[in-house]
Amino acid sequence: MNLEGKIYYHGEIVEGAIEIEDGKIRRVKKSLPFAFRVRGIILPGALDIHVHFREPGFTHKEDFYTGSMSAAFGGVTFVMDMPNNSPKILTAQDFVEKLRLVAPKANVDFSLYFMLSPLSPGLEEINGAFKYYMGETTAVEGYVVEEYPKNSFISVHAELNECIRKESRDLRDHDKSRPESCEAMAVRTLLGKGKFHIAHVSGVDTVDMCKIGGFTCEVTPHHLFLHRDMPLGTWGKVNPPLRAKWMSEKLWEELLQGRIDIVASDHAPHTMEEKEDEFNIAPAGIPEVETYVPIFLYLVKQGKISMARAVEVLMERPGELLRVPKGKIEAGYDADLIVVDFKEVRKIRSRDLHYKCGWTPYENFYGVFPHRVYLRGEEIIEDYEFVGERLGKFVKISPAKQEEEEKEHMQD
Ligand code: DOR
Ligand code: ZN
Repeated sequence: MNLEGKIYYHGEIVEGAIEIEDGKIRRVKKSLPFAFRVRGIILPGALDIHVHFREPGFTHKEDFYTGSMSAAFGGVTFVMDMPNNSPKILTAQDFVEKLRLVAPKANVDFSLYFMLSPLSPGLEEINGAFKYYMGETTAVEGYVVEEYPKNSFISVHAELNECIRKESRDLRDHDKSRPESCEAMAVRTLLGKGKFHIAHVSGVDTVDMCKIGGFTCEVTPHHLFLHRDMPLGTWGKVNPPLRAKWMSEKLWEELLQGRIDIVASDHAPHTMEEKEDEFNIAPAGIPEVETYVPIFLYLVKQGKISMARAVEVLMERPGELLRVPKGKIEAGYDADLIVVDFKEVRKIRSRDLHYKCGWTPYENFYGVFPHRVYLRGEEIIEDYEFVGERLGKFVKISPAKQEEEEKEHMQD
C-alpha cells in the first residue's frame, strides 16, 4: 500500500509518497503509482513509554482494550505499560501471564515493564524494561534496590519514602507532602550507579540532577499544562504532585531547550467514584493517553513549540531510547502513521474520549486529533472512527542486543 500527501520527513514537511510493504516503510519518494492521497499531514505515530492500563487487577479503572483504543484515537501507536498491577509484575511467570491476558486486547503495539526488585537480574532476557519504584505510590510500597539487571531500560519513579508524608488535604498541601527536593534527592542517590531514565520529572533541580548523572528524563503533560493552584481538587492529585505555575513554565522551557528528553503521559486512570472521595483518601493519577498528542499538535499550530521539537519529544526520541524501529518516517521503520489536519481543531470533551473512567482534567482544552491512524500499515482509524480492532503486537525491548548490532555495523 502507498500513501501520498504532505509528509513530515527528515525535519521538513514535503510533498511525497510512502511505500509500505509488510507493515514497514520501504521508501519515501516524490511520487509513487497507485498511492492513496490523504488530506493534511502524515506524521509518525507517537510512542508513550509510560501508561497504566490496569491489567491484571484493576480493570474497573481501565483495561488493555479501552486503554489501547484511547491511545489509538490520540495518535499513540505504541505504549509501554507499567507493572503496578495486582499481582505486581515481579517474576517471569507474572510477566508471561500478563502478556497472555493483554495481547489479545491490544489495539496498538505495546511492551511491558517488569517491576524492579531483588528478583529482577536475569529477567532482561525476557524483556529489558524495568520500572523502579523508589518510593510508595498507587499499589506499591517502594524500596531501594542495589542490584540492577544489565543492559536494560530502567524507568525510575524518583521519590523516597523517607521524604514523603502520606497524608495531604489539598493540592497545595499534596505538593508540600512530596516536595521537589525529595525527587531531586532520590535521583542524587542514583548517581554513579548506572544508566537510568527518570520518569515524570516535576522540578528543575531534578532535571539538573539527571544531567549530572547522564540520565535521560521525561516530563508528563500534567506537569506542563496543569498546576497546583488550579481548582482541580482530587482530579489533579497525582504523584509526584502538581507544582506551582512557574515551575510548569520552567519545565516547558527545559523541554523546548532539549534538557528534558521526551514527553510520556503517565496515563493513570481511576474511576470518578474513587476520585470523588475526600482528598486524603482519593487515589493519585490522571488519565492522559488520548489527549496529550492532540494538545501538543494544537500548540504546534499556535506556534508555542516547533513541529520538529514536538515530533522529537513525542515520537523520535522515545523510539531511540527504547531502540525500537518506530517513531520515524524512514525506510525500515514500522509504518505507524497518523494523519492530522491542522484546520480541524476540536474542543476536548470527556464524553468524546474512550477511557473506561469517563473523565479528563483537560475538558475544554483544544486539540488536533488524527483523522487517520495506521498501525504497521493497517488502517485502525478512518475519519475519526475506529476500524481496526486488536491489531496490536508485543514488542520486545532488548537494548543490549541492539548495541551489539550497532557495533557490527560500525565494523562493516
Ligand atoms: O499518581 C500516580 N498514579 N503516580 C504513580 O506513580 C502511580 C499512578 C497510578 O498507578 O495510579
Ligand atoms: Zn506512572
